Order: sequence, then structure tokens, then C-alpha cells
Amino acid sequence: MAKMAHGLADDLASTILLATDRPVLVAPAMNPKMWTAAPTTRNVATLKADGIHFIGPMAGEMAEKNEAGFGRMAEPLDIVAAAEALFADKDQAKPLAGKTAIVTSGPTHEPIDPVRYIANRSSGRQGHAIAAALAKLGAKVTLVSGPVTIPDPAGVTTVHVERAEEMLEAVTSGLPADIAVMVAAVADWRVASSSGQKIKKQPGEAPAPLLLTENPDILKTVGHHEQRPTLVIGFAAETQNVEENGRAKLARKGADMIVANDVSPETGIMGGSRNSVKIISADGIEAWPDLDKDEVAARLAALIAARLAGA
Ligand code: C5P
Repeated sequence: MAKMAHGLADDLASTILLATDRPVLVAPAMNPKMWTAAPTTRNVATLKADGIHFIGPMAGEMAEKNEAGFGRMAEPLDIVAAAEALFADKDQAKPLAGKTAIVTSGPTHEPIDPVRYIANRSSGRQGHAIAAALAKLGAKVTLVSGPVTIPDPAGVTTVHVERAEEMLEAVTSGLPADIAVMVAAVADWRVASSSGQKIKKQPGEAPAPLLLTENPDILKTVGHHEQRPTLVIGFAAETQNVEENGRAKLARKGADMIVANDVSPETGIMGGSRNSVKIISADGIEAWPDLDKDEVAARLAALIAARLAGA
């Protein structure tokens, strides 16, 4: 920052910074005493006057022991969000501005005991991409995510849950909303009474049977809710009779649209990066080509915007 403020260009990075006419975002990280030092304060003021953008620093723990205060680097995802906002196409249409959306994503984990759970192969990629695509069109998005290993999308409020019952609670407390897109692969069943202690193997005895009970259907609850969103969209992951099952689901769940896909293992869709879907609604069925999950998300967000606009 000191070099930037004085136009010193004696290495590749500082030379590029002096030569560029593109926006520059600085994410400073330094010891709190350095951050509040007079030269730093002067340099930051100079850079701000020059139109340089800043994210952070934040308050918190430092790398050095027993040092805490202002100087901690902003969280990487916040830096990404700030960079995206800075470089966003300011002319991009925001047809969903003023609209709110709730999206579910990922699997749920249903505990058997404190160390074991029932789960599925959902990665959360499709649901997360849809949340991000809706936000990009201007919607205020709450993403309710089951346990996944991918990062929270930028520009979206993410609520992390584990179990289907927690997911339902997070979704219904997010109502009212204009749009609901239920993408999560919610476990159909949970263990009727999960054990508070680890279930132990008993030598010579048969394994304890697992008694299952049905989980709440989140999509169906939202589709029939008194605060039902204007547009309720569900997914139908099927391995056979994709269209037929999708149509039946539309009626049963009270949804306006079902995005049906074939998740047979040979398709590589579950957990993969591509998706091949059919859009089922009262208007009929539209088959989309094989697309990257981000492209499916962008198309779906555009379709949602068109539907809400009455197109
Ligand atoms: O009935 P099925 O699980 O095939 O329906 C899939 C759709 O319903 C998905 O949109 C999924 O997110 C939603 N669903 C749900 N809660 C459940 C089961 C499914 O929201 N318990």
C-alpha cells in the first residue's frame, strides 16, 4: 500500500498496479499497530482518494499470539464477494430485484447415534448454483444447505442445517418469500429414535435393528403453506420413468414446476458438474440439453424471472 500510494513501480505487481486502468481492490492484513500507524493511515487516505477500493481489515485474532485487534484479513469469501461486486456487469438486468427466494441444497444427515448417520450422494452443487444465479438477477436469497464440502455462494445468506426437520424449520421461518426452489436431496426417512450414545457391538448378538420413520416433506409443506410463495419449484431425481414421476410430483407437492433429472449412476449427475433436465409444468414438458450445473442454474433463474413477470 505504501508503494502504491507513492507510485513506486519496481517489481511486477507494483508496475501492473501503476499501469492499470481497471478497478483495484485491496484486502489489507497487518499487525494492529501497523494498521493504525500514521504512515499507514496517510497511505490509506491517499489510496481511497485515488479511487482504490478496500475490503477489511477486520477485527479479530492475528497470526501472532496474544495480538488481536484491527488488522485481520477479511474472510476469503467476503473478498470474493467484494471482487465480484466490483467487477459485476453494472448493466446486467436485475429482473428479480425486490424479490425474495428460499433455496434448499445438499443432502441431509439423519443421525443414528452421535457418530453415525444416514446420508446420500448429493454435493449441493446444483442448489448452490441456483441460489447464486437468483442473487445475480437481483433476488434476496436465503440458501438452506445440508452438510456439503463446497463453499457458501457469494451474495447469498446461507443457513447451515444437518437434519430434514432442521431444514424444514429454517425454510418455514424464511417465509413469506416470492420464490422457493427446493433442490435438497432430503432423506425420506430418519431413525425413529436416534441413540444419544454410540451403539455398541454386542459379541454374539444380532445387530440392533434400525427403525425408520418418515421425514417431513419440505417441498410439499411449502407448496401447501398458507404463506405459499408465488412460485414453488421442486426437483425430481429419478432413475426411471422420469417424466411420468415428475408430472405426478407436480400435483402431489403443490409445485408450479418440477425440474426432473435422471440420476441413474451411469449419468454421473449426482455429485457431478453437469446436469440434463426436463422442465415439467402445467404448460407441458421442455427438455434442456446436457448443460453445466451453472448453466442449468442461469437458465432456471431466467425462467423464474420470466414466470414472475407473467411471460
Ligand atoms: O418425493 P421426492 O423426494 O422425489 O421429491 C423431490 C423433491 O421434493 C425435491 O425438490 C426435494 O427437494 C423435495 N423434498 C423435500 N422434502 C422431502 C423430500 C423431498 O423438500 N422430505
